[in-house]
Amino acid sequence: MQKKTLSDIAIQGKRVLMRVDFNVPLDEDKNITDDKRIVEALPSIRKVLDNGGRLILMSHLGRPKGKPNPDFSLAPAAARLSRLLECPVAMAGDCIGTEVMQEVLALQDGEVIMLENLRFHPEEEANDPDFARELASLGEIYVNDAFGTAHRAHASTEGITRYVQTAVAGFLIEKELKYLGKALQEPERPFVAILGGSKISGKIDVLENLFNKVDTVLIGGAMIFTFFKAQGLDTGNSLVEDNKLELALSLINQAKEKNIKLLLPLDVIVAPEISADADSHPVSVDAIPEGMIGVDIGPETRAAFSREILGARTVLWNGPMGVFEIDRFAEGTFAIAEAMSQATASGATTIIGGGDSAAAVSKAGLSDLMTHISTGGGASLEFLEGKELPGIAALND
Ligand code: 3PG
Repeated sequence: MQKKTLSDIAIQGKRVLMRVDFNVPLDEDKNITDDKRIVEALPSIRKVLDNGGRLILMSHLGRPKGKPNPDFSLAPAAARLSRLLECPVAMAGDCIGTEVMQEVLALQDGEVIMLENLRFHPEEEANDPDFARELASLGEIYVNDAFGTAHRAHASTEGITRYVQTAVAGFLIEKELKYLGKALQEPERPFVAILGGSKISGKIDVLENLFNKVDTVLIGGAMIFTFFKAQGLDTGNSLVEDNKLELALSLINQAKEKNIKLLLPLDVIVAPEISADADSHPVSVDAIPEGMIGVDIGPETRAAFSREILGARTVLWNGPMGVFEIDRFAEGTFAIAEAMSQATASGATTIIGGGDSAAAVSKAGLSDLMTHISTGGGASLEFLEGKELPGIAALND
């Protein structure tokens, strides 16, 4: 990596201001339902505390629209972190202001405080320079370990770097770039990418960028119906982006020109409606009955996609194959997760590009069997599109 990291700096006795992404899912009772983002930040956090740094953590949580709102407090994240670290984590009432400054200045070596949600101030998302300067004044060293927010040019991720001398990457950002970056730059081949999700429009840039890197692309999710309709097939009541039909054909042509094997499903599961008790059955993709909705890839496709995955040395997956939130329509998505776990066992590098696919792998109970699961949803997608992530670009070279 071209950026300085936590390993390159002296920490002892220093106030280390670290941007993390503790934007974790909470249930109605404010219990954290998935703490992966907190767990993945632990190596950087421990590095600072074990080396006698005074740690100030900052993050956003949800989208509170620039106003304080207790529903979006970071207190549950601070409590979970305290449990994981087995040491107290103080919780500040805000992220800027005199009181926060006093609490921060009172920190002793090896102590940690969590600031309240940055997005309680509209200046965070507006990347306001005065707000960024005020945040910067809290620390002597700035560390960004918020990979999941690195695609946002906000005050705490981008603006702040103009007001600090030292701005380095944490170990999570380093790890994410190692796996995602290697897959894009020097993958072991064959390199298979699996793309799913409901809309082509959200994946065009990823597809076009991956066409320059991969050997094979497997496509699932509702976006297949736009490809099928473009090829003249009946798609029933399945989701189709009618304004993307030409684009779908051009993507198929681009793949041909670049000698990429692009595989669309052979069969799909159809149901009259998207509900847990709807009747469903597999049909060939050229026999989707009128009025039916495609909700998952079918068994023949699962087998064909799994064969490709098992023959690969690098596998990258982004986007579910069907409506996996409903158990009966999750089989295709789980089959991909299962094949990838087997590929990992036989020595392939398997990477999950965050967001829904990470949630699906976790639901399948296979998270520990992947080489890398990104903590970024939007961030990993933008990285795979080949875009520069402003939160990383702004760090010291
Ligand atoms: C995410 O969950 O993708 C990040 O935390 C960024 O959140 P945002 O999409 O609200 O900016």
